Amino acid sequence: MATRKKIALIGAGQIGGTMALMCGQRNLGDVVLVDIMEGVAKGKALDLQQTRGVLGFDVDVTGGGTGDYAIIADADVCIVTAGVPRKPGMSRDDLLKVNLEAITKVAQGIKRHAPNAFVVVVTNPLDSMVYAMYKITGFPKGRVVGMAGVLDTARFQYFVAEAAGCSPQDVVGSVLGGHGDDMVPLVRYCSVSGVPLTKVLDRSKIDAIVERTRKGGGEIVSLLGTGSAFYAPAAAAVAMAESYLRDQKRTFPCSALLDGQYGVKGLFVGVPVVLGAGGVERIVELELDDQERAMLARSVESVRRSVAETKL
Ligand code: APR
Repeated sequence: MATRKKIALIGAGQIGGTMALMCGQRNLGDVVLVDIMEGVAKGKALDLQQTRGVLGFDVDVTGGGTGDYAIIADADVCIVTAGVPRKPGMSRDDLLKVNLEAITKVAQGIKRHAPNAFVVVVTNPLDSMVYAMYKITGFPKGRVVGMAGVLDTARFQYFVAEAAGCSPQDVVGSVLGGHGDDMVPLVRYCSVSGVPLTKVLDRSKIDAIVERTRKGGGEIVSLLGTGSAFYAPAAAAVAMAESYLRDQKRTFPCSALLDGQYGVKGLFVGVPVVLGAGGVERIVELELDDQERAMLARSVESVRRSVAETKL
């Protein structure tokens, strides 16, 4: 009898808990929530089990602490949100140090207990955390990706839809580069149901949307007061996991290890990739004009600086 897939969500905070619900509702596979706060992981798992009779999903949700990573044994997918969000007064360096420590422990646990897993890293600073995961697990490059572009693109889709009066599902967006203020939204490749965006909205409106997308995370942080966005990040990471588990071969902008594509080697940079049963099955190389190339080069430089700080 076929067994269900297993999804380990490492970090059972805002994003982790939301992903657990989404994985359950989509019947993606049995979910294991893991957190240094063992009670949080166990409590959320139990709460979610108690939704099953109402929501009608079959997959099992369990939880546990980081003391025993054996509970993630043989997971098909690991999605990692372990770490702390940036707090007021915390520099990027401070955040990198704290979260690198968390990612190191998580990566060792994954390497030991889930050696065949497809790993999606969500923890910030994303570009260096996904690099650290790749280095420490020693997994093949197609099995480690970072979630950033799907979220940035989803934000862009929503802002365009709001301005154009259409469904976000009919907006095709594309964002390249690192996950920061210098991400590269590719307006030339955006459309609404096939109609180029430049024919749908005027230039100043598009520029404002690009700027709002770049600062999309910060806008939510300041509205929430504490913590950062979690519904859309959770949805984005689960969509990536689903494309892998169901071999959907969807093209998503993901942070993937480049090996010469876009003129970059040895760094994780946001690019369109095909995600299927083979993990990152293909990196799609879009033709860039001079201005786009320059923006991407700037973004790659900040990724390079952030990765250098990990000293890995
Ligand atoms: N192992 C497991 N869990 C850990 C570890 C660790 N070493 N260190 C911290 N955690 C847990 C925390 O206890 C917390 O429950 O990770 C969880 C993080 O959850 P939240 O603080 O709610 O953060 P969340 O909003 O889910 O974001 C997680 O994703 O988008 C990024 O910037 C965001 O880095 C942050 C991460």
